[in-house]
Amino acid sequence: MVFKHRITKTHHKLHRRRDGKTMNKAKIIALANQKGGVGKTTTTINLAASLSKLGKKVLVVDSDPQGNASSGLGICIKDMERHLYHCYLDKKQVAKTIRQAAHIENLDVLPTHVDLIGVEVELMSAMKREKYLLELLDPLRGNYEFIFVDCPPSLGLLTINALSAADSVIIPLQCEYFALEGLSQLIRTIRLVKHSYNRNLKIEGLLLTMFDRRNKLTYQVAKEVKNHFKEKVYNTVIPRNVRLSECPSYGKPVVEYDKRSSGALAYMNLGREFIKKQVNQ
Ligand SMILES: Nc1ncnc2c1ncn2[C@@H]1O[C@H](COP(=O)(O)OP(=O)(O)OP(=O)(O)O)[C@@H](O)[C@H]1O
Ligand SMILES: [Mg+2]
Repeated sequence: MVFKHRITKTHHKLHRRRDGKTMNKAKIIALANQKGGVGKTTTTINLAASLSKLGKKVLVVDSDPQGNASSGLGICIKDMERHLYHCYLDKKQVAKTIRQAAHIENLDVLPTHVDLIGVEVELMSAMKREKYLLELLDPLRGNYEFIFVDCPPSLGLLTINALSAADSVIIPLQCEYFALEGLSQLIRTIRLVKHSYNRNLKIEGLLLTMFDRRNKLTYQVAKEVKNHFKEKVYNTVIPRNVRLSECPSYGKPVVEYDKRSSGALAYMNLGREFIKKQVNQ
């Protein structure tokens, strides 16, 4: 397999859209935590959907070979001819690969497939192997306001590519005893990427997920995270809510599945808080 991208430096502030209006370039946000099952994908899907509901044009890039963000947004992976892996092989495939999310307007998906695992091995010896995703996403910045990249639970090349492409990173943390374990390693990796490949990378925010109000430990974890990361921690916390775990099997974000659920209300609040933070940055 031949990886044939040339790395270009295209960081335009404004893009001209097809309708002639100019639009700020999309901000690329990676959702990363090498710890598994902390709410990366749930947050990618539902924050993206909330922002779409609030009128923003959003793209979700499913950079986890598990493909949960794709299926959770109603994309049937079995029917796909192309997915992110093909875009890594040839970036001209990107436009043809993007799909509309099944149940929600203003929301597109760059879907994935288990084949994406191959990238970790096949890119090993490629030049500038950490910049491939940036090369794919940079030309799309004029079409969206926000591009979210869902990362796998590892700090391998797929996550490094996401962090190298991103303007900022959201770190979901499950409110449990081991939540902080591994966080310092993640922060070190973010610093390393910032230093080596992407000096503009910032921490967008830390998000407390699966918050259980009946559990004292949850409050202790939240306090510890806030003491350490201060205003970087979102005021919105995501409660443990069964609707959030049910909706992916219907291919719907929670705002479509049950908009009155505590999960839907929390992710809508997160969407508003997220937008407010952009103005202040
Ligand atoms: N707030 C919540 N309430 C209840 N269930 C949740 C909540 N957030 C996530 N879940 C469920 O917990 C599991 C893990 O969540 P999710 O897939 O979002 O984590 P992840 O960090 O993307 O996992 P992985 O590391 O495997 O990619 C899923 O089954 C999801 O439906
Ligand atoms: Mg996931």
